[in-house]
Amino acid sequence: MQELREAYAEAQRLSLELQEKNRELEEGNWQLAEAHARLQAAQSQMLQREKMASVGQLAAGVAHEINNPVGFVTSNLATLARYIDRLTEFIARQDRAVGSDQREELQAARKELKIDYISEDARDLIRESLDGTDRVSAIVRGLKSFSRVDEARLQAADINECLEATLNIVWNELKYKASVTKEYGDLPRTVCNPQQLNQVFMNFLVNAAQAIDKQGEIRISTRQTGNMILVSFADTGCGIAPENLSRIFEPFFTTKEIGKGTGLGLSISYDIIKKHGGDIEVESEPGCGTTFTVKIPVVAA
Ligand SMILES: Nc1ncnc2c1ncn2[C@@H]1O[C@H](COP(=O)(O)OP(=O)(O)OP(=O)(O)O)[C@@H](O)[C@H]1O
Ligand SMILES: [Mg+2]
Repeated sequence: MQELREAYAEAQRLSLELQEKNRELEEGNWQLAEAHARLQAAQSQMLQREKMASVGQLAAGVAHEINNPVGFVTSNLATLARYIDRLTEFIARQDRAVGSDQREELQAARKELKIDYISEDARDLIRESLDGTDRVSAIVRGLKSFSRVDEARLQAADINECLEATLNIVWNELKYKASVTKEYGDLPRTVCNPQQLNQVFMNFLVNAAQAIDKQGEIRISTRQTGNMILVSFADTGCGIAPENLSRIFEPFFTTKEIGKGTGLGLSISYDIIKKHGGDIEVESEPGCGTTFTVKIPVVAA
């Protein structure tokens, strides 16, 4: 009887020990799963960063290639404008020089060939084309300062200029969705990684445009308070539900349909701003809009 009791006690002890071991195993397992998830998130972030870097490189290459033809098209157009002026002047002088019998014939030809309209329209066409090449040049400049692959990573930059460069790049995604208002304050140059900041600004602007259903407004403002530069992006988009507000900086958190968002934009932005010694704040009212404010410290060169 005594033996049986002892055996039973021993079995119970063993069973408890087993339970304890099991619990430890479960905990270990759980920790492993968590580590795995963290590794996966880190890997995806790295991939996304590499993607952005190669997009930057590609953009810089394309910008370089476009620069050359745009340069000669612009200069040829300007020359063409001068030629047209001279030809028009020549026609006017010829008109004055010829005798009255030929003049009638010339007038008829002039009417038939719409010479007056052509010389007027040619000037308009050239002006429009020059506007176009100006725009292409601005985009190329934007692409170059956006990607800055060949320049040192840290440099003194003007945040307002960074914003302009980024706006040039994302303009296509914004223009049908929103009117963009800019309120740039006076900012000191600050040592930063402009390429990375451009990425951050781009994500805020694209997010703002994507939050707007049909037509809305995006207001970009900059100012300095104390030793901080503040950049705000306010939109009149759909806003963020309160229960999501604490999750938007998590990697892979997205409310966008598959293929539209990876949910990495804000987590990478947060990372970049933290590395600059700054912070990101968000205020949002569902149905009214959202304001993101980036704070970065002024670092003297
Ligand atoms: N301006 C905004 N207005 C409303 N919701 C926003 C805004 N900005 C971010 N969000 C919300 O935060 C989520 C996460 O944004 P984040 O930029 O990290 O990822 P994403 O835009 O979904 O995808 P990705 O940037 O990778 O293309 C978005 O899916 C959206 O729900
Ligand atoms: Mg985004």
